[in-house]
Amino acid sequence: MCGIIGYIGDRKASEVLISGLSHLEYRGYDSSGIALMRGSDVQIFKAQGKLKNLIEILKDKEDVCSSAHIGIGHIRWATHGLPTTINAHPHTCDCKSLILVHNGIIENYQELKEELTALGCHFVSQTDTEVAAHLIAHEYGKTKNLLKAMQQAVKKIKGAFAFCAIHKNEPDRIVVAKRNAPLVIGVGQDENFIASDIPAIIEYTKKAIYLSDGQVGVVKKNSIEIYDENDLITQNKIENLPFEAIAISKMGYKHFMLKEIHEQSDVVRNVLSGKLISHDDKIKLEEFKLTPEKIKKIQRVQIVACGTSLHAGMVGKYIIERYAGIPTDVEPSSEYIYRETIADENTLVIGISQSGETADTITAIKQVKEKNSHIIIITNRADSTMARLADSLLPVSAGIEVSVAATKSYMAQLISLYMLAIYLMEQKGIEKYHDEIVNLKQELIELPNKIEALLENTNDIKLLAKKYSSYKDFIFIARGINFPSALEGALKLKEISYINATGYGAGELKHGPIAMLDENMPVLAILNQGVVYDKVLSNCEEARARQAKLIGVADYVAPKDKDLFDDLILIPHVSDILSPALNIIVLQLLAYYIAEYLGKDVDQPRNLAKSVTVE
Ligand code: M6R
Repeated sequence: MCGIIGYIGDRKASEVLISGLSHLEYRGYDSSGIALMRGSDVQIFKAQGKLKNLIEILKDKEDVCSSAHIGIGHIRWATHGLPTTINAHPHTCDCKSLILVHNGIIENYQELKEELTALGCHFVSQTDTEVAAHLIAHEYGKTKNLLKAMQQAVKKIKGAFAFCAIHKNEPDRIVVAKRNAPLVIGVGQDENFIASDIPAIIEYTKKAIYLSDGQVGVVKKNSIEIYDENDLITQNKIENLPFEAIAISKMGYKHFMLKEIHEQSDVVRNVLSGKLISHDDKIKLEEFKLTPEKIKKIQRVQIVACGTSLHAGMVGKYIIERYAGIPTDVEPSSEYIYRETIADENTLVIGISQSGETADTITAIKQVKEKNSHIIIITNRADSTMARLADSLLPVSAGIEVSVAATKSYMAQLISLYMLAIYLMEQKGIEKYHDEIVNLKQELIELPNKIEALLENTNDIKLLAKKYSSYKDFIFIARGINFPSALEGALKLKEISYINATGYGAGELKHGPIAMLDENMPVLAILNQGVVYDKVLSNCEEARARQAKLIGVADYVAPKDKDLFDDLILIPHVSDILSPALNIIVLQLLAYYIAEYLGKDVDQPRNLAKSVTVE
């Protein structure tokens, strides 16, 4: 998390930095700051809270803002220390000569702080970044050279970082370094840019150099030098950026989240395009690099992901096991990386990530790469760190997702997993589900229209949201392939409305959670006609008998059962196996309208960030 921006050239640096930070706000938004350099004069401006607070401060600093052409900036998601102005970046050393912004976590910052304190350094913030600033400054004291100081400092730092540093004595350069945190250098004509992510610089340049882990760079107005971890000069490829400068706009919707929910029919069309032509054609998945012979040898699948992407992976388990007949484990990446995992060349590992920058998932993928497993990455960012680690890259092309709450990217991940499961089945020559698959393919083709039908009439969901917005707790239940939908629905609600919501397999209710049920605990049940329909209905009866308010999300409820529910949202019918793709839209909308009704900051909920680049 956290966003970094840097600029050196002839433009007003403050404008480039603020514009860049506005495109990085998804990475954190608890404070921000910039440093502007004019010769050996450096001015630092910081503000607590959203970026608009920093913009307000800069309004009467026109003098420095219009005359500085070098600068670095940062938007923070707090890891060490409260989200205060003092803890906001940039940070400096005692003599204020070295100025640093940082993304990542310095794991040995306490040890370093003790060593530096013993050397006479004074710390004003609670951050690990300030320790790095003092450390680089200390090395500068020995070398009088910012590049060398950075090279020496990073050797002493454990953990993850993307650094961007300037020094008053070297006013013609920005020095950068990276390890396990994203950093890209935008290449311009008589100007260069640095950023954590492409949207921050795409309006200025379409060419960039991606730094690799361990590299340090010196960025000047007319040159870029990159050094490897042995401090030897090296050459990185200049790449063309895969983006157009798109005006990211809400297109008339009140929030990005609502817009992104409404984009899901097109997202499905995009994912299917070129892969699923008609119900009697085989799935085409050119991105998948394993031969049919190798696919037949796959003994197990392991899916690693976090948050919403993890829930998509859980749906993936159902469909891969059913259709491809391969045992599939799904695990949060953060757990996967701290135990002995069993994987080999006959293991297919699927990393799922909207951002492609989630630190835990990247670590999991790096670990498993050493075991020669084939790695598929399903991501919305084909330019991400994770994408670069893939043996087979499945970009989902959902378009930039701005709202922190993942919606359309989840839909894209789900549909990609359906494509993958059917593809594996077809490549293995499994015939058992032929008729079911023909039907599923036809349903996938028709899915965008059903999504549109659902989204055309959301009044019932709005009314429901208003009715239930004052409840403090919620339980979501489902079984089978919709168990992950219950988890995802609960996650959506808690992350944007801050209402305590938990998802359970409906069969688990009676093993503990039922103790919490009374008239103050609404239970939302997901029911689809299929193998577990009657079972979920029985679980609803159990909840009802404890006087819980009962909300049903279903494609059908028999007239005799309707009275069981206080409220019922009926959705278009799809087969049980595809129903997670429709059910989730109701749950996204419910979470959205509750949060909106409560006046929450829907697109930027507290304490969260869009891209979680720290472990
Ligand atoms: O970028 P990723 O998909 O790897 O991110 C994983 C989670 O951080 C993410 O899904 C998070 O749970 C979302 N805020 C959910 O809406």
